Amino acid sequence: MNDLYSRHRGVLPDWLALYYDEPLELTHGEGRHVWDSDGNKYLDFFGGILTTMTAHALPEVTKAVSEQAGRIIHSSTLYLNRPMVELAERIAQLSGIPDARVFFTTSGTEANDTALLLATTYRRSNTVLAMRNSYHGRSFSAVGITGNRSWSPTSLSPLQTLYVHGGVRTRGPFAELDDRAFIDACVEDLKDVLGHTRPPAALIAEPIQGVGGFTSPPDGLYAAFREVLNAQGILWIADEVQTGWGRTGDHFWGWQAHARSGPPDMITFAKGIGNGASIGGVIARAEIMNCLDANSISTFGGTQITMAAGLANLTYLVEHDLQGNARRVGGLLIERLRAVAAQLPGVREVRGRGLMIGVELVKPGTDEADPQAASAVLEAAREGGLLIGKGGGHNTSALRIAPPLSLTVAEAEEGAAILERALRSTY
Ligand SMILES: Cc1ncc(COP(=O)(O)O)c(C=O)c1O
Repeated sequence: MNDLYSRHRGVLPDWLALYYDEPLELTHGEGRHVWDSDGNKYLDFFGGILTTMTAHALPEVTKAVSEQAGRIIHSSTLYLNRPMVELAERIAQLSGIPDARVFFTTSGTEANDTALLLATTYRRSNTVLAMRNSYHGRSFSAVGITGNRSWSPTSLSPLQTLYVHGGVRTRGPFAELDDRAFIDACVEDLKDVLGHTRPPAALIAEPIQGVGGFTSPPDGLYAAFREVLNAQGILWIADEVQTGWGRTGDHFWGWQAHARSGPPDMITFAKGIGNGASIGGVIARAEIMNCLDANSISTFGGTQITMAAGLANLTYLVEHDLQGNARRVGGLLIERLRAVAAQLPGVREVRGRGLMIGVELVKPGTDEADPQAASAVLEAAREGGLLIGKGGGHNTSALRIAPPLSLTVAEAEEGAAILERALRSTY
């Protein structure tokens, strides 16, 4: 065990999982590449869990952060804060939510916590609908709406949560149905759940489940859900912590795959917007955001240094049409991986859209998840010079591919070739 690893083990919690038999210390990055403390270079297809959204060491972000640090890093929300107001204006306008208000936090967990506080207060109900196989964060309230057993360490909760079907298309009781019938069956399930409970505050859902292994329902499911929810005034919260800002290529927000329904009542975001600076937040219609009758702040939420990073990052993303790049390069990458998968019996499915691609592994000839194979492919890819992630429901057997959105075609080709070798060496 190297020195830093044993020190890590000696002082940090056991449940703070590390990737790889010999964990990596990443010391620097540039563009889509990172280097470890031994000087090895890797193509980064995971971006620190979809957080390095544009590129490593993006000069525009570095410059904005260092200039802001030289002026003032933090003043709290007790004082007017120009970068916070500017970023809130831009996010409100991009959200599609009418009369939107934005509240900044420091993480996705805290963003979802805030959305739950707002929804339960607005609706005077502590019942929440969530999706099976979901992940919404690590706090006491967030684990209470997380439908993924591996990430929910307690069933104690301030909320009463009911889990509905639909987030996983190709497993579960409705898997054999076609898209239309699948949506109808999920809607019937939702109606059935609603018939047995007191009126819930909200439905919270990731448009594409992140930790759950990049699984998603057929387009339009949440529009169909929305009609049922609307009839009872139940709010819809889209957790866009992984899917926001154009990552899915076809859309700027994941919810837009369900656009017939119009925007959600609330959007939560985090990860990519700060390109590594800790920004999270909630966007909500004013009447919902303003429903609290006591003060509430987040000391670090919206602090100048992170807002400077967010503004520079968002400007770069929009000006360079990285959503379009995610669509084009992600489209090539997914086709390339599907062609490889067709030759490998251990690959059950290649799914996702844009630069959010999941590769689910099973024991060949069965439908049984193969977490050992996923770990082996992760190791082999690393040896080949490629970093990827993994995720999935009860068994972590999906590879997760989510590079920075500035990925080039040549880098996509290179990464796909390394991954192909890693898959072939495992099966
Ligand atoms: C969809 C989703 N929501 C919320 C969170 C929690 O975000 P954070 O880790 O910033 O608290 C995550 C983190 O992975 C996530 O994927």
